[in-house]
Amino acid sequence: MKHLISVQELSREDTVGILDTAIEFNRVTDGGTKMLPTLRGRTVVNLFYEDSTRTRISFERAAKRLSADVVTFSAKGSSVSKGESLKDTALTLNAMGADMIVVRHPSPGAAHRLAHAGWLESSVLNAGDGKHEHPTQALGDAFTLRAHLCPGATDFAGLTIGIVGDVLHSRVARSNIFLLGILGANVVVIGPPTLLPVGIENWPCQVSYSLDAHLPELDAIMMLRVQQERMNGTFFPSELEYSRTFGLNRKRAKKLPEHAIVMHPGPMNRGVEITAEVADSPRSVITEQVSNGFIVRMACMYLLIGGDLSVA
Ligand code: NCD
Repeated sequence: MKHLISVQELSREDTVGILDTAIEFNRVTDGGTKMLPTLRGRTVVNLFYEDSTRTRISFERAAKRLSADVVTFSAKGSSVSKGESLKDTALTLNAMGADMIVVRHPSPGAAHRLAHAGWLESSVLNAGDGKHEHPTQALGDAFTLRAHLCPGATDFAGLTIGIVGDVLHSRVARSNIFLLGILGANVVVIGPPTLLPVGIENWPCQVSYSLDAHLPELDAIMMLRVQQERMNGTFFPSELEYSRTFGLNRKRAKKLPEHAIVMHPGPMNRGVEITAEVADSPRSVITEQVSNGFIVRMACMYLLIGGDLSVA
């Protein structure tokens, strides 16, 4: 595999292979080995056309941990703000000899275009393209789910995962729904009809408008940020109304099975989709999702641009 654009390109074996490689990296780095020589001499470019905190830092750290040369390029402050096209930026990066481009872009399909338009020789890793996909977030989330609910399993059969809220604008939800489908989990998508995409009935999930009805059956609940910046209209009456109907608060969290974990990809709107109390409670694995995202990104970079795992 040269590029990672969409989870839908992955088989169950590919996915488990990535998760197992991540476990291996976790073992090595937990053991105190800080830097691995795996990508020495390789150049990774982080090309970010959208704001990001955790994803950009995570990719940067992952590449550095593997000893790659890392160049971070954010559209603000580059020639993109002078109107340079994606193609010209790609040709420039190619001429500089990048081995991998990690791209985040507001347009769905931008990562695919970069990978397949013939402008580049490098691998392309999608770090979020508009509302479309965010594969490494879903892989990190699968790593977290597996660690808590079914360590070492090669599929997620028998697990029920709830994904709640603004699915319409969420690339994290889309990547998670399809990846969990590939792993054989039972996915229940819950939200107001205005925030569910057209055609969701053809996705590998059940759809529901009632959070309360599903809480007792969930092994994990994934809350989504209400993405105000992607909304150009009114999708629900008020924030208060939204959190009353779809927010995860203490009372609702109590209705989850005792073993169930609470997830959120971040950034959170505390008090809207999740209360601070639940976000900071012992069953919340939100900060673990950040560290697991990092470890899974190391695995993806290693698997895409090579190196020899035995040197680790
Ligand atoms: C998400 C994103 O940017 O897609 N954040 C992330 O990468 N962890 C989700 C969001 O913005 O709500």
